[in-house]
Amino acid sequence: MEKQEILNLMRSFQQPEVVMAAHKLGVFDALGDRVLGSFDIASRIGASVRGTTILLDALVGMGLLIKEQGNYKNTATGRASLCSDGNDPIINALNHIGELMESWRKLPESVISGRSNKSEEKTFSKNPEVNSSFIGAMAEIGRPNGRIIAKNINLAGCKMLLDVGGGPGSYSEEILRVNPDMRAIVADLPITIETARHHIEQGGFADRIDFKAADIYNDPNVDLGIGYDVALISNVLHMEGAEKNRRLLQKVHAAMEPNGLLMIHETIIDDDHASPVDRTLFAVNMLVNTERGNCYSFSEMQAWLLESGFVGIEFIDCFEQPSLMLARKVG
Ligand SMILES: C[S@@+](CC[C@H](N)C(=O)[O-])C[C@H]1O[C@@H](n2cnc3c(N)ncnc32)[C@H](O)[C@@H]1O
Repeated sequence: MEKQEILNLMRSFQQPEVVMAAHKLGVFDALGDRVLGSFDIASRIGASVRGTTILLDALVGMGLLIKEQGNYKNTATGRASLCSDGNDPIINALNHIGELMESWRKLPESVISGRSNKSEEKTFSKNPEVNSSFIGAMAEIGRPNGRIIAKNINLAGCKMLLDVGGGPGSYSEEILRVNPDMRAIVADLPITIETARHHIEQGGFADRIDFKAADIYNDPNVDLGIGYDVALISNVLHMEGAEKNRRLLQKVHAAMEPNGLLMIHETIIDDDHASPVDRTLFAVNMLVNTERGNCYSFSEMQAWLLESGFVGIEFIDCFEQPSLMLARKVG
C-alpha cells in the first residue's frame, strides 16, 4: 500500500462517525418528509446551528441528504432506511454498529488480553436493550440471506427444522415460507427468545415456529429435542472457540434424524486466515466482542463436522462470498 493510500485509509473512520452522530442526534427523523433549514433542524435536535450545519453539509457531501436552496431533505433511501418509521429500516443495525464502534475503540486492550473488554452489562446476553438492537439488527440484515438459502436448498419432504441460535427467526421464516409443510424450533438464550417472539409474531409465523430456551454452548445437559430432519446453524459458530463448537455440533448431530441435513451459514475465511480482508476484519470484530470467537475456514469446520459424525460435507456456492456448507447425518 502506498503512503497516500495509507493516509486515505486512516481517514476512512470519518464517514461512519458522521452517520452515527446524525443517527444518535435524530437528524433523519427530524427531517422525515420535511424540507428544513439548518436552524430548524438544530432546534428540533437540540443542537447548535454551527454544529448542525457542518454535520448536515457533510451528510449532503456523502449523498445521505439532499440540499436544495439552502434547505435539507432526506434521500428516498434515507427516508426508507434511516428514519425510524421508514418502510425498510436499518435502525437496529445502526444501534448495533454503534455498540460495535465502542468495542472497536478498545481494540488495543483486546489485543493485549486476547478477548473482549466489554463490561458484562453491555453484552447482548445480559442487557435486554443491547439484545434488542443486536437481534433486531440480525433481523434487518439476515432476511435476504435467509431467502437465498430457502431458494437454493431443496428441502422438499422435510418436516422439522432446528434453527440453532436462530435469533429473530428470520432464516426460519424464509425457509418455512417456501416449504409450507415445515415447522421450526428456534433454540436460543431466554433473553433472545423474549426479543424473537415479537419478530416472529410480526412476521406472521407464530403458529409454525416454536422456541426452545437453551444455552447451547454452556449447559452440558442442554436439551435441543429430537426428530429434526433439517438443522441450521447460521452466524453462530463465529461467536465461540473451536472446542465449544465441536461440542455444539455433537449435540446437534444427536438431535437430528438419520439422513438429516445440516446447513451451516457462516462468514467463511480462507485457510490462511488472512483473506479476504472483510473476513479478517470480522475476526477482529469477534476479538473485541467475544471471549473466544473467530472467523473459521471451510477446512476447520469440515474437521469439526467429521469428528461429530457428519458426512457428505460440501460447500454451496450461492452467496457472493463463501458462506454456506451442507453436511448429513449418516442414515
Ligand atoms: C449472530 S446471531 C445469529 C442469529 C441468526 N442465526 C442469524 O443468522 O441471523 C447469534 C445468535 O446466537 C445466539 N447465541 C449466542 N450464544 C448462545 C448460547 N450460549 N446459547 C444459545 N444461543 C446463543 C444469540 O442469542 C444469537 O441469536
